[in-house]
Amino acid sequence: MEFYEVLKARHTVRRFTGEAIEDAVLHRILQAGLSAPSNDHLRQWEFVVIRGEENIARVLGKVTEQGKMQQELLKSRPLTESQRKMYDHAVPNQYRMLSDSGCLILPFFRQNADVLHPAALQHLNSFASIWCCIENILLAAAAEGLGCSLRIPVGEEWQFAAKEVGAPEGYLLPCYLGLGHPDPTETLPRQHPVSLEEKLHLERW
Ligand SMILES: Cc1cc2nc3c(=O)[nH]c(=O)nc-3n(C[C@H](O)[C@H](O)[C@H](O)COP(=O)(O)O)c2cc1C
Repeated sequence: MEFYEVLKARHTVRRFTGEAIEDAVLHRILQAGLSAPSNDHLRQWEFVVIRGEENIARVLGKVTEQGKMQQELLKSRPLTESQRKMYDHAVPNQYRMLSDSGCLILPFFRQNADVLHPAALQHLNSFASIWCCIENILLAAAAEGLGCSLRIPVGEEWQFAAKEVGAPEGYLLPCYLGLGHPDPTETLPRQHPVSLEEKLHLERW
């Protein structure tokens, strides 16, 4: 697929057909992740891939209860109409969109500064780098005709998942990615539209 077509094709998928992903395809997608720029020149990223309903359920142990809490919290937040539609679609599906993908990717990164209490923005460089890697994965999945669901672990969720998969100390999990074949019947809410004309400032803001 042509690059700008891939950009257009990428969107967050929360319903999957359940069809399996071939190993060769998975490897191409993760290899794309490893092609991302990295702050420390080492790409200190590790991917744990979990397949099969039971195995995925074990790792997502804490997600359901957190999803319910998020629903409650959102009720008190002022939201625009498009945000509300996005959240209404996303929040009740947090568990299912990961478990039904059939292929859960846990992208870990090595913490080489205190990213949870940064004293300066550059202390977040390892965190910024893993997100470059994640975006490459999302785009590569789109180029393969696949899609990803994405969830940020809330509260103790990530420590639970990290322990379940035996991740060593010093590695953090920024998100879960569910990789799968998109269900073509899913209706996708769209983000609040923005235009480059409004965002672009030539010479001076
Ligand atoms: C940093 C980040 C965090 C996100 N967290 C979640 C999440 O916890 N759960 C979820 O369902 N989607 C999550 N998303 C996906 C967004 O909801 C989605 O990208 C956005 O609504 C735009 O839709 P699109 O990806 O289809 O263009 C996240 C995306 C980003 C970049």
